[in-house]
Amino acid sequence: MKTQKLFQILNVSMIIGFLIFLHSCKIDQSSIYSLQKYKVYDNAAVSTAHPVASAIAVKILKEGGNAIDAAIAAQFALAVCYPVAGNIGGGGFMIYREQNGRLHSLDYRETAPARSSESMYLDAAGNVIKDLSTKGHLAVGIPGSVDGMYEAFKKFSKLQDWKQLVQPAIDIAEKGFKLTKKQAKNLNDKKEVFQEVNQHQNPFNSPNRYRAGDVFIQKDLAHTLTLIRDEGRAGFYEGENAQRLAQEMQKHQGIIGTDDLKNYQSVWRDVISFPYKNYTIHSMPPPSSGGILLAQLMQSIEPYPIKSWGFQDVRSIHLMTEAEKRAYADRAIHLGDGDFYPVPVEDLINPHYVTERMRDFNISKASDLESIQAGQFDESEETTHFSIVDSYGNAVSITTTLNGGYGSKVVVEGAGYLLNNEMDDFSAKVGVPNMYGLVGAEANKIEPGKRMLSSMTPTIVEKEGKLFMVLGTPGGSTIITSVFQTILNVIEFEMPVGKAVEAPRFHHQWKPEDLFYENGAFAADKVKSLEKMGHQVSSRSSIGRVELIVAQNGKLEAAADTRGDDHVDGF
Ligand code: GLY
Repeated sequence: MKTQKLFQILNVSMIIGFLIFLHSCKIDQSSIYSLQKYKVYDNAAVSTAHPVASAIAVKILKEGGNAIDAAIAAQFALAVCYPVAGNIGGGGFMIYREQNGRLHSLDYRETAPARSSESMYLDAAGNVIKDLSTKGHLAVGIPGSVDGMYEAFKKFSKLQDWKQLVQPAIDIAEKGFKLTKKQAKNLNDKKEVFQEVNQHQNPFNSPNRYRAGDVFIQKDLAHTLTLIRDEGRAGFYEGENAQRLAQEMQKHQGIIGTDDLKNYQSVWRDVISFPYKNYTIHSMPPPSSGGILLAQLMQSIEPYPIKSWGFQDVRSIHLMTEAEKRAYADRAIHLGDGDFYPVPVEDLINPHYVTERMRDFNISKASDLESIQAGQFDESEETTHFSIVDSYGNAVSITTTLNGGYGSKVVVEGAGYLLNNEMDDFSAKVGVPNMYGLVGAEANKIEPGKRMLSSMTPTIVEKEGKLFMVLGTPGGSTIITSVFQTILNVIEFEMPVGKAVEAPRFHHQWKPEDLFYENGAFAADKVKSLEKMGHQVSSRSSIGRVELIVAQNGKLEAAADTRGDDHVDGF
């Protein structure tokens, strides 16, 4: 009898124990942060890849800062709390729309070092050496992020207090922030490569396994950020930090020196702007391919009744795919850094040219790849995007990157930040695909001081002259097609804002031949129909993480992608 009772007690305590375990799993998975994926705000809104960065941007807005102030604080915060792509060791692009409608684009893309060369990733036989442009010190382009933020600050900050914008990032580096489940897993998955690339101890190659909720502290990074806080641009490109970065390079056969850093300059460029029905779309010019390809894609589909065909109707998918093949074929041949190569921007976005490109579009048959060549006339998918609208009516759309997840995996010794592997975005050899499967040519060959071609597509859409959408996404070569689809989801398929971001995506980039769709996005019958038309259809992991703000009915509707830990905030 006593034994029976003991078993009963044991059973009950086991059940309770199991329930507590289940509960803790739940905490582990969902309540490290309470993620907000969609919300409507009256005054100002922010959508970023991490709740801590969103909160910091909103704090700056509440202190009277404008969208630029909030963006600078978010860029530095993401370098700490979203190290897989947020950065001070990478670069990015900004589209800024002032409340009065004036548009600006800032290019703070990385550049090739003075000692780089066209053949630096080739062996004696002229073959591309595996991993050299993606991992370790030779993969690194000269970082542009700190210069970019300082430029934006000088020109547009309302608060005019640089220290106030950098300090929140220092605080979270110094005191730490809690890792989400995805972040803990990702850091554990990459531990070995961090150990291979870095001999010194740092939080990334620590032998401990991380768990959700662990507090991630980055003391060296806090120190570097303090230099930036106190000395502005010079805190990164000169003095102690420049010496550290150059020493890191020297020790490991890298080629970036102190002069490379000193000479780095971000550039204000002319925005690519084009009409689509009663909208005007503004996006990034070269060295991004984003604005040009987005213009081609939107113009290619404009004559077709895509709204009545509907979202992911086979006809819509087919049309969009055929437009994508043509645009990416042009990318491979014609696009590169316009300061080094005569990119025919006006020709590529000329509506007549785009119409001509679609002339052989067959409504019921996929075109064969070799029949599509670039037009003739006489550029781990980890990047991050954030969208901000302030209470004054200014809007910022920023996409920033280390290229692959955690970039080159190089952590600068004593300085605590990760360096990009953006050199892989150049074409190491004509026709040889980079890590995104993108091919390139002369236009995107490596040259000292040149910027590597990008797909980043920070975008702002106006409706009848007024601010309407602020959006962008990470995703390497899929960035452009994700922005394209999200705009159509809102404008043509009239989806609610949250749904427009959540909706499944697909992608074609001319080469390889595959029409990729997110796992589960296309039902079997749809796949069959597309195959019948001649498409080679393949499923893959998730595509993009869009951060979108839509200004309508006097409100700001903010959406963060459900595919990650992305989070909206505002007031
Ligand atoms: N590194 C990805 C891009 O710039 O397109």
